[in-house]
Amino acid sequence: MAILVLGGAGYIGSHTVYELIDAGREVVVADNLQTGFRAAVHPKAKFYQLDIRDRKALDALFEAEQIDGVIHFAASSQVGESMSDPLKYYDNNLHGTMVLLQSMVAHGIDKIVFSSTAATYGEPERVPILEDDTTCPTNCYGQTKLDMEHMMGWVSRAHGLKYVALRYFNACGAHASGKIGEAHNPETHLIPIILQVPLGQREMVSVFGDDYPTKDGTCIRDYIHVTDLAQAHILALDYLMNGGENNVFNLGNGVGFTVKEVIDVAREVTGHPIPAKMAPRRAGDPAQLIASSEKAVRVLGWKPEYNDLSTIVASAWAWHKSHPHGYTEG
Ligand code: UFG
Repeated sequence: MAILVLGGAGYIGSHTVYELIDAGREVVVADNLQTGFRAAVHPKAKFYQLDIRDRKALDALFEAEQIDGVIHFAASSQVGESMSDPLKYYDNNLHGTMVLLQSMVAHGIDKIVFSSTAATYGEPERVPILEDDTTCPTNCYGQTKLDMEHMMGWVSRAHGLKYVALRYFNACGAHASGKIGEAHNPETHLIPIILQVPLGQREMVSVFGDDYPTKDGTCIRDYIHVTDLAQAHILALDYLMNGGENNVFNLGNGVGFTVKEVIDVAREVTGHPIPAKMAPRRAGDPAQLIASSEKAVRVLGWKPEYNDLSTIVASAWAWHKSHPHGYTEG
């Protein structure tokens, strides 16, 4: 029996596949390679290039493989793009998940762990954020992820499917082996953008807004290492395998850092001055997002190992230094 990882060639998906294989699990990966990389897929995983909106391809996979659980990362995930092209997000994230669930129900596969996001909360009413706090997304990306959660709920009621939604805060860092790491094209995330300066690929970092109601005026985020996220997926799948009920978990470190603080940590880690300039706010950015992950710790037994931002940034720096152009040469 194998675990099917959809989107297993992407950033968080590829790290989860490495952890699953390290734990001795059999893994099948499916990815359309639109944003993922074939080179990110662990050599011991069986690979299918397919799009989850392709019902025939999914049906064929479920008929060919013995799948006993699904981990679903296959989605578009850029907040800014979701505001300018919302229908892409409804198509890829919601329609894609609908086709996936149709195929799973038809094949009697009834366990799924999937990527949700802190963006489901919108501007939080309080921090740290708890799972039953108000969800009011301020961008279409977060809206489609919340709608995916609701879709799972209704399908569960009708067909007995069991799901766990993992609401990630800010994923960052890279695998300890140095073989896989973060690679987006275009890159929009803060830590890889900062590291492009010491790599000589960018002259300076733009800080999007310094007039937020925070200690230094810049946005606060909760940065969580990708390997810790990957471990949470395995724990969530085991929870479902052991009869666990539908559930939603926040995944973060519970500590917030401002954009300026992250830049300072990157200066220390890289030894580079990393010039920064102030820029206007970016649309849709909440001032502050900090998780309470107490529920994941209590129910899943999750223990994030990377709770120090310097170590997290150092792991990202090791990957970017050795792969300055990600998975592509030159
Ligand atoms: N930022 C800058 N300059 C940059 C890039 C980012 O100042 O060049 C700031 C952003 O404005 C934000 C912070 O750095 O305040 C972090 O930005 P990221 O783009 O790295 O991450 P986000 O918090 O916007 O988004 C992340 C994930 C989303 C997810 C969201 C949940 O990328 O997928 O967390 O809050 F939806």
